[in-house]
Amino acid sequence: MKLAIGNDHAAVDMKNEIMEYLKGKGIEVVNVGTDTADRFDYPVAAYRAAKLVASGEVDGGVLICGTGVGIGLAANKVKGIRCCICSDPYTAKLSKQHNNANMIAFGARVIGIETAKMIVDEWLGAKFEGGRHAERVALITEIEQTQQLASRGE
Ligand code: RB5
Repeated sequence: MKLAIGNDHAAVDMKNEIMEYLKGKGIEVVNVGTDTADRFDYPVAAYRAAKLVASGEVDGGVLICGTGVGIGLAANKVKGIRCCICSDPYTAKLSKQHNNANMIAFGARVIGIETAKMIVDEWLGAKFEGGRHAERVALITEIEQTQQLASRGE
């Protein structure tokens, strides 16, 4: 498995810890974030990681900024990305099972490293359930692709 990881200046330490954690699990990691405390605008890391995910060059992506919000919102602007912004492992797990989230984002100023590891584990370990959830994900894609929901008369 190969994952992209991206971060801004608020999340360098957590990024490094999560990167080592993932490598320890035998996961290949592509680091597209910053490695210094100098200002680094989160949309840049989000865009780099999201493009790698959307193109299929990596299997998924982990994003970390101060809250996880900005970097996750930016990633979700790239077509094909379903990035779950969350602070708890349950949401992370369900985001894969029900929403087939291909990226996960969280905040280094919001949660601690152990919760961050649990979030990553639940997201990686979960499997998309398909079925009715696939129909809903297809509706998300329809909105993304057409800016309409014609299949539902909207
Ligand atoms: C950076 O100060 C901060 O705004 C950023 O890390 C993130 O929290 C934005 O959503």
